[in-house]
Amino acid sequence: MKVYKVAVLPGDGIGPDVMKEALKVLKTLSEIDSTFTYETTEFNWNTDHYVKHGLMMPENGLEQLEEFDSILFGAVGDSRVPEHIPIWELIMPIRKNFQQYINFRPIKLLKGLETRLKQERDIDFVIIRENAEGEYSTAGGKMYQGESRELAVQNTIMTREGISRVAAYAFQYAKEHQLRKVTNATKSNAIIHTMKLWDKVVEEIANDFEAISYEKYYVDAIAALFVESPENFQLVLASNLFGDILSDLGSAIAGGLGVAPSANINPNGEFPSMFEPVHGSAPDIAGKGVANPIAQIWSLALMLQNFGRSDLHDKVLFSIEDVLEEKKTLTPDMGGKATTGQVGDAIVNKLKKRM
Ligand code: NAI
Ligand code: MG
Repeated sequence: MKVYKVAVLPGDGIGPDVMKEALKVLKTLSEIDSTFTYETTEFNWNTDHYVKHGLMMPENGLEQLEEFDSILFGAVGDSRVPEHIPIWELIMPIRKNFQQYINFRPIKLLKGLETRLKQERDIDFVIIRENAEGEYSTAGGKMYQGESRELAVQNTIMTREGISRVAAYAFQYAKEHQLRKVTNATKSNAIIHTMKLWDKVVEEIANDFEAISYEKYYVDAIAALFVESPENFQLVLASNLFGDILSDLGSAIAGGLGVAPSANINPNGEFPSMFEPVHGSAPDIAGKGVANPIAQIWSLALMLQNFGRSDLHDKVLFSIEDVLEEKKTLTPDMGGKATTGQVGDAIVNKLKKRM
């Protein structure tokens, strides 16, 4: 029987708190389902590590991670270190070197949750964001620092290969999940080189999937539509920057950061994929024991789905919904008084009843 090897990186702030709850859920799954076995290895690569060693991870960090089936990540960031350091020395190297070129974010209003929009809405779509190139590149430079002629140049990198693989993944996903429509988030009216290439390649792929309808909207219009008519979306395909912004907006209409999960996927399986909540290390509530663990636990569910265990994914998600619908055990961000650990325990109990 396959033993899934999971690298666990709790990170900083609330990362370790919410990770503890996700690991409770993972342990429960293996206890009640004899066909699911796993082992975890924990890596304390975080701001403490940086303060001690001057590095977010050891020099051979990526080699150490390569042998795992997947990476479960908490969150990083701590005021002792400039914000770009954990991002560019830990998260980005993993995403880019492991070719996790798909960032997958479900925007789904779970049962028991209320949207912050005025009217009740049926919100259930996914954002597929390009995750390895685009606007988030280190190509560029700066000159004349501190002078009145000071300048900075930051280049966007769009490649035919990079665009076609994310677009193909999106249309294939739509096909496999019986979605009828893919919406391309673009801005090719103003960004005339890179976004025009993006549109051209996306449209070539769209032509290969005749059964799925294709539409193109400017990203600013999509932002408005997320608020006005989110029920019209099924799958939104976006570049790295646009997808980043749209997914925080998406999480805000569907319950907030405390419940927003994400997956960084290497579809070929040649490197591990990484599963992490959308939120950061939340220094304002770190150490208080009140962080909502649902985003981390849902991210774990996405990992199970990636292992081909959609059955376990669904059980975890239904158990989260059971707790939300009951409204008895909720953290303060959802209007409750429960601790992180109590919410984790409540989800574990629901899971045991479902198995
Ligand atoms: P944040 O997501 O950590 O917090 C934003 C707000 O949401 C805060 O008020 C926080 O208390 C609340 N919040 C976040 N997660 C929550 C949860 N699970 N339960 C209840 N409330 C929650 O974003 P912020 O404050 O902009 O950044 C804090 C640090 O995290 C920074 O160092 C930043 O660079 C880092 N960060 C790291 C990310 C990652 O590891 N992927 C992503 C975003 C930010
Ligand atoms: Mg973001």
